Amino acid sequence: MKYIRLFVVLVGVSLVSNACGVFSKGEKVSTADRVLTESVVKIKESADALSDTNHFPRYIPQDSTNWECVDVADWCSGFWPGVLWYAYEYSGDELIKKQAELFTAPIKEIAYTPAQDHDIGFQVYCSYGNGYRLTGNPEYKKIMLAAADTLATLYNPIVGSINSWPSKREYSHNTIIDNMMNLELLFWAAKNGGGQRLKDIAVSHAEVTMKYIVRPDYTAFHLGSFDAKTGAFIEGKAHQGYADNSMWARGQTWGIYGFAIAYRESGKKDFLKTSMKMADKFLERLPEDGIPYWDFDAPVTANTPKDASAAAVAACGMLELYGLVEEDSVKQKYYNEAVKLIEILSTDKYLTGNSNQAILTHSVGHMPKNSEIDVPIIYADYYFLEALLKLKKIEASQITK
Ligand code: GLY
Repeated sequence: MKYIRLFVVLVGVSLVSNACGVFSKGEKVSTADRVLTESVVKIKESADALSDTNHFPRYIPQDSTNWECVDVADWCSGFWPGVLWYAYEYSGDELIKKQAELFTAPIKEIAYTPAQDHDIGFQVYCSYGNGYRLTGNPEYKKIMLAAADTLATLYNPIVGSINSWPSKREYSHNTIIDNMMNLELLFWAAKNGGGQRLKDIAVSHAEVTMKYIVRPDYTAFHLGSFDAKTGAFIEGKAHQGYADNSMWARGQTWGIYGFAIAYRESGKKDFLKTSMKMADKFLERLPEDGIPYWDFDAPVTANTPKDASAAAVAACGMLELYGLVEEDSVKQKYYNEAVKLIEILSTDKYLTGNSNQAILTHSVGHMPKNSEIDVPIIYADYYFLEALLKLKKIEASQITK
């Protein structure tokens, strides 16, 4: 219990009426347990309502209560099976496991289709990766290894990075900060029979991202464009952010979490430093209420939306840093900041309650395209559940020490 202020909230007798009726009167219930328990009920209900397992929840429009679904090729297809796997991990409910298997199965085609973009990592690692971690199913492992090989076909050794968006034709090679999250599939595959080459690609990609896409002040461009033939860096662009030089909130958090994972898997200290500096920048610029606007440099008016998804990814990244940083006071800082983010997301302002099928609201998908603004989005739910489960594991490991 050296580092941890346990994230326990004493719930008064009159307040104990959770959706499952699992908690007994007067029991001490942590916020994580309360939110996870309520989430499992909602996820199970949503899964029962979704009859087509070839389509996957992506977002809920403002005038609706139900998920809009997308097909397997969409970059978000893996998050819903991932949500189901997390719900199964927490509850042990075999019916949820069955749903997780059903929604994971169609994503197999991504592993065996020529790579369209870097999102193979989100699609396959969030679905099959969690499924394999929880079941050890050898078929899942085979599919993940195939997916890693498919992702690696986008690597350009002259640039030293993956072409995240081959279809964005104005540049011959595009590398985006989000792609940092998809290196985990390559690192995993390298350790599980896929070969050293996949790890080398992941390390090289992280180094190129660190050099050109992370700026000297530890904010990041969304996209870096390169000349595919010479490897020369051409320019950094915004794409989903407010302006080329602005600090797009979710991009900053993809960097925090992605570089932490890259350090965990490679041991390269520069990656740890980059993750920490990006986290420090995020914390230094957070508004007073503790949740970022969609872009830290967007003009703030009464209507400027927050991005809960960025807060959830940041919480995951900081809990990852907690496990990696050696100095006690620094690791404690990241733990405390992650808990603060989770506590705020666990309030009625961000939890949807019974108003729709999602867990969290107030996320932003693509502001410049006027798309998915101030709505529930599936990856916010996915990373929020991941953060809650990470937190529970850290607390459990401290209790057994
Ligand atoms: N392009 C991935 C994202 O919206 O973060």
